[in-house]
Parts: sequence; structure tokens; C-alpha cells
Amino acid sequence: MELKIERDSDIESWMEVTLVYNSALKQISTKLEILNDEFQHVHRYNPIEHIKSRIKTSESIVKKLRRHGYESTIQNMVQYVNDIAGIRVICSFTSDIYRIADMIRNQSDIRVISIKDYIVNPKPSGYKSYHMLVTVPVYLSDRIIDAKVEIQIRTVAMDFWASLEHKIHYKFEGNAPAHIKNELIDCARMVAELDAKMLSLNEEVRNIDQRKD
Ligand code: GTP
Ligand code: MG
Repeated sequence: MELKIERDSDIESWMEVTLVYNSALKQISTKLEILNDEFQHVHRYNPIEHIKSRIKTSESIVKKLRRHGYESTIQNMVQYVNDIAGIRVICSFTSDIYRIADMIRNQSDIRVISIKDYIVNPKPSGYKSYHMLVTVPVYLSDRIIDAKVEIQIRTVAMDFWASLEHKIHYKFEGNAPAHIKNELIDCARMVAELDAKMLSLNEEVRNIDQRKD
């Protein structure tokens, strides 16, 4: 399985695509770091625990195009694969997720294309996360390109769950035994309960701090 690279100009465009998506990831990461620093300065608190970013491998891009019935061309991947550039923002509390999403929305050069709130509407697997598909302008020497980036925002607990679920999903090629799927759904419920308890505990302690100030 390979991307159709027939001419030198195709190699050139593939390299350009990678460069553009890498630049887009750098821009969004920097924006998030700045927002986190500013938040720390103003509120003495970091909403972001850590950030992970990745460029999708050409193999997974081709697989995805096939799955959706598209030919493996560079034009198709740019048009139809929305998560070539992906960034994952991990935070402590569910309230941080919406705070971070708002901060991203408020950046004047970021355009939000779509939102999927799998916290309000979890997937049947039990998966929870807040997804934003955005574009960010990448300034090249002679033009500006709007690059798509998929941003996933989730708590540490949701991330822990998603990592294990992903590993299990991969191991059983999507057909995990029913009892394992059910255990995962049960774990997702516990994760939600844990997130809610930790949030209310944190709020309570913060209120005590504020009264002392
Ligand atoms: P793909 O799932 O990427 O084909 O696109 P989509 O349009 O369905 O996007 P969606 O927002 O549903 O999911 C995109 C990404 O979210 C995936 O690539 C995963 O990283 C993550 N994700 C979605 N569902 C699950 C899930 O059930 N378990 C885990 N572990 N991750 C998930
Ligand atoms: Mg999906």
C-alpha cells in the first residue's frame, strides 16, 4: 500500500504537505503553551497537563482513504483525511476541557470547522473526549495555506482509558470478546465518576483558599 507517487512533482507535493502539517502542529502547540503560561500568570493555575502531537503515517492515511473508497492521491488525502495533523491536549479536570476549547475558539486566526463533544455524547465503546477540527494559516514564503488540525481534548483519566481501549481494540482487531467490551464500558463509567469527584473536591478546596485570601 503506497501513496501514488508517479512524478517528481508528486514527491515534491508530498514533502510540502508534510512541511505544512508540521508547521500547523507547531503553531497550535505554541498557541496552547502561551495560553497555558498566561493562565498560570493570571490565575496561578495550569489548565494543561501536557500536549502530544503527531503526523499520521502514510500507511494509515492510505488505509483511511481506501476505507472511504478514495484513490490514494495527495489531493484526496488533503481533502478527505481530517486528522493528518493531530494534537492531543491532556488536562486535569473536565472544566479545563471547555476552558481550553474556548481559548482555542477565541484565537482570531483559527477557524473551527467542526466540534464533536464525546463527553456529552460518549461513543458506544465508552470513549470520551472533546474533538475540534480547526484550520490554522501557515505562512510560506510566497503564500498562505490553511491547514487542518484535529485537536482532541481530554482529562488524564479519559486518556488513561482511551489508551487501554485502543490497545485492546488493536489486539483483537476490533472484535474484543463481549465481557472485555463490557468491562471497558464499566471502566468508562468509573472514569466519569472519578472525574466528577476530583472536580468537586478541587472546587471545594479552591473555595477554602479563596476565603483565606
Ligand atoms: P476516524 O475515527 O479517525 O475514522 O474519524 P471520525 O470522523 O470517526 O472521527 P472521530 O472524531 O470519531 O474519531 C477520531 C479519533 O478519535 C480517532 O482517530 C481516535 O484517536 C479517537 N477515537 C474515536 N473513537 C474512539 C474509541 O472508541 N476509542 C479510542 N481509544 N479512541 C477513539
Ligand atoms: Mg471514528
